[in-house]
Amino acid sequence: MNGDHVRWWQSGIVYQIYPRSFRDLDGDGVGDLRGITEKLDHLCWLGVDAIWLSPIYPSPMKDFGYDVSDYVGIHPLFGTMDDFDRLLHEAHRRGLKVILDFVPNHSSDQHPWFLESRSSRDNPKRDWYIWHDPGPEGGPPNNWLSTFGGSGWEYDAATGQYYYHAFLKEQPDLNWRNPELRGAMYDVLRFWLGRGVDGFRVDVIYHLIKDEQFRDNPMNPDWRPGQDPFQRFVPFYTTDRPEVQNIVREMRAVMDEFPDRLLIGEIYLPVERLVAYYGADLDGAHLPFNFQLIEAPWHARTIDFMVQEYERHLPPGGWPNWVLGNHDKPRIASRVGRDQARVAAMLLLTLRGTPTLYYGDEIGMTDVRIPPERIQDPFEKNVPGLGLGRDPQRTPMQWEGGKGAGFTAGDPWLPIAEDADWVNVAAQREDPRSLLSFYRELIALRRREPALAIGDFRLMSAGGDVLAFEREHGGRRFAVALNLGRMPHQIAVPLGRIALSTALDRQGEAVRNEVRLRGDEGVVIALDGP
Ligand code: GLC
Repeated sequence: MNGDHVRWWQSGIVYQIYPRSFRDLDGDGVGDLRGITEKLDHLCWLGVDAIWLSPIYPSPMKDFGYDVSDYVGIHPLFGTMDDFDRLLHEAHRRGLKVILDFVPNHSSDQHPWFLESRSSRDNPKRDWYIWHDPGPEGGPPNNWLSTFGGSGWEYDAATGQYYYHAFLKEQPDLNWRNPELRGAMYDVLRFWLGRGVDGFRVDVIYHLIKDEQFRDNPMNPDWRPGQDPFQRFVPFYTTDRPEVQNIVREMRAVMDEFPDRLLIGEIYLPVERLVAYYGADLDGAHLPFNFQLIEAPWHARTIDFMVQEYERHLPPGGWPNWVLGNHDKPRIASRVGRDQARVAAMLLLTLRGTPTLYYGDEIGMTDVRIPPERIQDPFEKNVPGLGLGRDPQRTPMQWEGGKGAGFTAGDPWLPIAEDADWVNVAAQREDPRSLLSFYRELIALRRREPALAIGDFRLMSAGGDVLAFEREHGGRRFAVALNLGRMPHQIAVPLGRIALSTALDRQGEAVRNEVRLRGDEGVVIALDGP
């Protein structure tokens, strides 16, 4: 890639903050904007380039902010618009970009638009949501399900019709076929972009358009009773409809009214479908989130196949990206274990493409067991016992030891991990071999060596459970070798010197034609010569 035209979101690192759980300054047990502002210096110390905030808008919090009741306000729990402007200002002053979550597929049922829409069949906003007459037997119009359990249709007795909700019944889907609704939502984007926001992560962007004929979704032949009930049908008519691409293009055009902004799409689709969201002329999302590392079994051969397939499907000029964790999925340290979490970090930060980190992963936070009486997530409440609940990965950030873990002086909304007394930022900052110190070194290396961020990528052959690849830019060449297994393994590499190892104990070691990796070890090797 030509280094002259690199955009901030190509070479940069995105850090996801779940605001409820990051830092609570006012002591109500829920994180807030002033708390985030307080921690900006820490994020600069870590070396990330952008923060993405999960929703901070007014919301009844049925889905913890993903049910928005005012798209252009700040929830008092998080603070005020002044607090937000200050956060933005302080972030920009430090060279950090700020990305907001945009939740366009559905609003809260308490949004004034929905209150109007449900008030009568001939209300001007009726068509801003998806209303339908009952099916032939008086039941739901078709078999569309809610992701969070049960039918996707809710009956409104007052007007005798059903409305569709892909998620909770308190999250009615907006009708993106309606031009006025689209215009209103684009104005929401302009409102924040005009304030100086650097980009959006668009919630379930692939959901925005549903089949105009309301056809039934087909059965999923692989589904078995006892599995996630939503998977019973293939969401063929409710997601990834061809017309959604027009909407993505329109959203991008709004972003392009402002200089250098970023559009990220949240999309859970197979790679060959995912890449369509770059847009036919790269006029769609800059980064359709690539969640393969979140979902893939942790084996070198699976992952190198995945990387190749992804690279093969990317449209020319489309910029890749990788994600290890988010607020919806089990944490990486729980999925692969603490030792392997270092290898995973090295993979995330040296693959070709923009990495997104999830808060707390840099200290190895794990999924926290939530006692039944403290369950918050509606997904777990509606579909209990299948391990679908998302509270375990949303627990408070562990800043220091002691009660409240430096997150709150009050009662935290979710329990704090039992390991917080030793797994925390303060302790790991002191320890030069900690996971946090490793993340910082790795990020610093990536910043010093553009090859690791924007360089060309080539897989190397490696046996065992080892994944190896080369990165090259401007005459600087690196080999990255990652042992995803527990057994030591040796692989062939050209001459060079180890720039970083996951245990932080091999820097400077000369490499002559082969490198021996311990179990759960990764190394970045600076190769000699061009
Ligand atoms: C996205 C969000 C998730 C939310 C859902 C509905 O998948 O990441 O947290 O529950 O959309 O908005």
